[in-house]
Amino acid sequence: MYKTSAAFRYLTATGVALLTTSLSLAAAGEDPRTIVDRVYSVAQAERGEARFKTSCSSCHSLSTFSGGAFADRWYGQTMAEVFEFVSNAMPENNPGGLKKEEYADVLAYILSINAYPVGTDDLPTDPAELKKLAIAPNPK
Ligand code: HEC
Repeated sequence: MYKTSAAFRYLTATGVALLTTSLSLAAAGEDPRTIVDRVYSVAQAERGEARFKTSCSSCHSLSTFSGGAFADRWYGQTMAEVFEFVSNAMPENNPGGLKKEEYADVLAYILSINAYPVGTDDLPTDPAELKKLAIAPNPK
């Protein structure tokens, strides 16, 4: 009898601890944002288009990054991973050769050709900020 209730108390305590943990995780997670939430500007996408033409289009056609291909390739990751990959590995003939802002511009352009909603602020270059932007398919 005593054993049973001790086990019960233990389980209850564990349950409360787990609940507390998940509540605090939810609070720490801030607002979960995705690339659907107006994360780049028109001006930035326009700069990115020009940059794409000079630095990327010799090897990539736009179709590589549009029509859902971008979201399919990167789904489940964040803009931080995309930024890190592109800024370390691209252009393949000059890896890391662009400025951070220019990489962000090109990524904004890629979001624009996928018709992600546009906002007023530029896509950031700070990895901690980019990490908050999950890649989600465009619901449109
Ligand atoms: C000299 C050729 C070349 C240039 C220029 C180049 N790339 Fe690439 N890129 C490649 C190759 C080859 C791959 C495939 C390698 C891989 O996936 O690891 C690739 C892969 C990628 C990928 C990952 C695959 C995907 O479909 O998402 C992205 C994103 C990318 N490039 C973006 C860019 C951007 C942005 C630029 C311009 C700043 C650029 N590349 C310029 C050759 C190039």
